[in-house]
Order: sequence, then C-alpha cells, then structure tokens
Amino acid sequence: MLNQPSPLQLIQDEFLTQRRIRLFVKRDDLIHPQISGNKWRKLKYNLQAAKQQQQKRLLTFGGAYSNHIAATAAAGKIFGFETIGVIRGELVKPLNPTLSIALELGMRLVSVKRKAYRQEKTEIAAGLQNELGKCYVIPEGGSNTLAVKGCAEIIAEISEQLGGELPDYICVSCGTGGTAGGLVTGLNGMSLLKVYPALKGDFLKDEINSLIWEAVEKKYNNWQLVTDYHFGGYTKWNQELIDFINTFYKKFSIQLDPIYTGKLFYGVWNDIEKGKFKDGSTIVVIHTGGLQGIAGFNQRFGDLLQFNMEM
Ligand SMILES: Cc1ncc(COP(=O)(O)O)c(C=O)c1O
Repeated sequence: MLNQPSPLQLIQDEFLTQRRIRLFVKRDDLIHPQISGNKWRKLKYNLQAAKQQQQKRLLTFGGAYSNHIAATAAAGKIFGFETIGVIRGELVKPLNPTLSIALELGMRLVSVKRKAYRQEKTEIAAGLQNELGKCYVIPEGGSNTLAVKGCAEIIAEISEQLGGELPDYICVSCGTGGTAGGLVTGLNGMSLLKVYPALKGDFLKDEINSLIWEAVEKKYNNWQLVTDYHFGGYTKWNQELIDFINTFYKKFSIQLDPIYTGKLFYGVWNDIEKGKFKDGSTIVVIHTGGLQGIAGFNQRFGDLLQFNMEM
C-alpha cells in the first residue's frame, strides 16, 4: 500500500550539467496518493502511538486547504480511526476540494474563529474531548516529536539509495518545522540542510531548534534557513512561480504545488544559478507532496497550474 522507500530520481538537464551539479529528487510525493510526502513520515509513529494507547479518534488542526487535514482524514479511514479536523475560520459552502475529500473520508469538521484558533488550541481540544470522548491529539501541521522521528528516516533511505553516501546538500520546504527538524536529527551533523520556508519570518529557526531539542536533546549547526523564496508569505504567489511550476512539469513530469514544493524548487534552481551550491556537488531535494492542494488552487485562481490532475 505504501511505496517505500520512495524513489530517488536523478534530474537530467543541461542547466545542471553545465554547473556540474548532480541533483536528485526524493519522491516522497509517491509514497501514497492520499497520505503523501512528509505527511506519511509525520503520521507514521503518531498512528502507532494512538493504536498502542487504544485511542479510537484522532483530532488535529489546520487551515481550509491543509495538506495535513487531508492526509489525517485519509489515514483515519485507512487505519481505522475516527477523525476530527479543527479548521481555522469558516467552513465556506460549497466546501473546497480539500475539505470535501476530508468529509467524504469521514472526518468531522469543526470550524473555529481565527483568533480562537490562534490562541486556544489546548482549550478547543479539551472542549471537543469532553463532548466527543478521548482523542489522540496531533498538532497543526502534524509536527511533534514523533513526526521528527518519522522524518529522520528519510536520511537513512537516501544514504542507502546513494550507496552509503550522503549528498553535500539536502533541501526541504518548511511550514511548521517538523520535517526540517527530522532531517537535521537524521543527518546527525553530516551534510548541510537548506531549509526554504514557505512563509515569512525567521521565527522558524527557534521552532526547528526546539523540535530538535525535544526529540534528541541536541543542538546542530549543519542547517540554515533560506528566507528569499516565500513570495510574500504563506499562500502568496506570482506568475513567475506558476510559470516555473508549469515548465518544471513539462520538462521533468514532476508536479509541484504552489504553496511549498514549487517555492522550494524555484529557490533551489535560482540558488544553483547564483552559485550558492559548490561546483561539482550533489543535492537532494525532498518532494514533500502537497499535490492535493492543486485542485483547490486551480479552482480559486482559474486553472493556472497546467498538468494532468490525476493523482
Ligand atoms: C507539502 C508540504 N511540504 C512541506 C511542508 C512543511 O512541513 P513542516 O510543517 O514540517 O515544516 C508542509 C506542511 O506541513 C506541506 O504540506
């Protein structure tokens, strides 16, 4: 059911050959059609823990287009949990593709005003558990210590696929920091991890450090934030980003999403052009999925992303 280890795909292109760069994509987007990318990595040990604790329900948080909400709904259906999704803001009808699918998969959707959502997650979870019964609570974006443990496993897979070596650089997108935190712990001081936030602000440095600390009680210096490619903030985009994603698909048949992976690959491509990676180096870019969000994006903005929507 799960395509693991996910493929490590070499990208062949004149642009890369000229710069003597070997670039691989870790295709975690292919792990599962509904629980894809970092979502499976983050949920894996949480699902195990919920089973061990004999919990029947998963409760989690997310925005109306959240990849994590969609993946948790699917994981609940497949692994036999009821699911509750606490959604930031109103549930606008008709529901967007993300929420429609979550609902179809049996998720109970609870809308919470934006301010309360920001400030009162613990109280909201407690209130819902009073009403519905005990739940296994997973934070927004799925980022907790068990998510860090799951994401760390990406590194061992990559190393095995590269014949026991590690690349010079690993590049990953970032929202809440759990995936990056996991990669740092998996690297355990080796290679350089470049983290491309999909949103503005360098608060993520502290978030990632504290997720690492909670997981392994260590500090690492072999990672950095690259803050030049958020395109104005979370969910912000421009035509240049859309053109890049469409061209990337035409050239390599790899779909990217406009919120996370599109910005990441755009950033990596630009940084290669600017000489920010050592000549002759090997780079692995992690494809963290997020493709379920494309339908909602195209619905809102008019079919800007031109690729086959079958997933
Ligand atoms: C597709 C995709 N890529 C990357 C990320 C960022 O991961 P993290 O929240 O662990 O930083 C997310 C959000 O969870 C995501 O949905």
